Amino acid sequence: MESPLLDTTIDHARQKDAQDPLRSFRELFHIPKQANGEEYVYLCGNSLGLQPKSTRKAISQELQSWQDLGVEGHFQGKNPWVPYHEYLTEAMAEVVGAKLHEVVTMNTLTVNLHLMLVSFYRPDKNRHKILIESDAFPSDRFAVESQLRFHGYDPAEALIEVNPREGETLLRHEDIKTKIEQHGDQLALILFGNTNYYTGQFLPIKQITDWGHTHGAMVGFDCAHAAGNVDLQLHDSGCDFAVWCTYKYLNGGPGSLGGVFVHERHLNNNDIPRFEGWWGHNKDTRFQMRDDFDPIPGVEAWQLSCPPVMSMVPVWNSLKLFKEAGIKNLRNKSVSLTGYLEQLILTLGDEVVTIITPSEEEQRGAQLSLFVKNASRTLFENISRDGVIVDWREPNVIRVAPAPMYNSFEDVWKFFTILKNNL
Ligand SMILES: Cc1ncc(COP(=O)(O)O)c(C=O)c1O
Repeated sequence: MESPLLDTTIDHARQKDAQDPLRSFRELFHIPKQANGEEYVYLCGNSLGLQPKSTRKAISQELQSWQDLGVEGHFQGKNPWVPYHEYLTEAMAEVVGAKLHEVVTMNTLTVNLHLMLVSFYRPDKNRHKILIESDAFPSDRFAVESQLRFHGYDPAEALIEVNPREGETLLRHEDIKTKIEQHGDQLALILFGNTNYYTGQFLPIKQITDWGHTHGAMVGFDCAHAAGNVDLQLHDSGCDFAVWCTYKYLNGGPGSLGGVFVHERHLNNNDIPRFEGWWGHNKDTRFQMRDDFDPIPGVEAWQLSCPPVMSMVPVWNSLKLFKEAGIKNLRNKSVSLTGYLEQLILTLGDEVVTIITPSEEEQRGAQLSLFVKNASRTLFENISRDGVIVDWREPNVIRVAPAPMYNSFEDVWKFFTILKNNL
């Protein structure tokens, strides 16, 4: 039943856009165009964020430095390359709510997850189990299973999962707590995806961390779907580590670099094992090629290689926009944008489309996962033909993620109208 309070006209969507203090940021992005020259309704920032128009120029700048300076570009030029990763740290720390020495941009997500597991999954004869969510992203599952086998354990025995209850799709917080309590004295590590890539459920990082720590386990998070999306407070949450990627909400480009957070209580602790490389070594003596490893104080000690400058350029360039917009402002807009999407979808009736994602704003980010009853892939193909880019997960779930950085209320309205016309 249509809510009597909701104005479903395009004019209403446009009024909302006119009141949006962040509306000008859309102009800073390339919005993909259809064959007829019209812009797509792009609601897929949870998969790949759009390209800022300034990215090309920023890459050209470094190509120019390379062209003009060759190896001297490491120390000269507009942005000398040796400390290039440092340029990203302040904005990245703001995005995830961390202190500067707790955050570094390096490698890619799954690589970083393995590096974190080397340091924070340290099984012994009393504790060796790992707890994950049953619907963990496949790469996370593969990473923890291979780490278990690497340490001589059988995942069938040592990998514990929390499932949604029979007939439900979301995880109940109390079930996570119960599982932690059940395996508490044997749990070495807890790893959750946050926000869940499929359901869009945002789990309470601090609470899970507290439950895990009470039972003596290390607690880490895969924040691929949370970074640049929700207001993460990684430092205050107290979690031990987190990893994320920069190609989704952070608009760093396809396959772009990963981010790592290690809580400051673990920094400069020589008892923590770590896979090491020369870029984690003391900056003052790195080029003296000394024999003994002298770790940089802070999370940079986990770096292995020198910064891949050309891959870092788009990430830094995009982070500048995040700094300008402010993560809290983006989150405020996101709550309205996704709330508006939810209200529109609810007018279709639960018997036609069910929203899997939690309705509480603090338990979700931008994404809504829509379960369309009796739909097939044809529906997805039809809305794509009509100019919508979202993604489809078998058997019949559409993931829709209005990104507050560049999506408008009109985008949401257009998606809703195209979906409705194709049901
Ligand atoms: C939740 C989640 N975890 C891990 C990954 C894997 O990331 P990468 O391929 O950068 O290692 C992805 C990729 O989309 C993801 O969505």
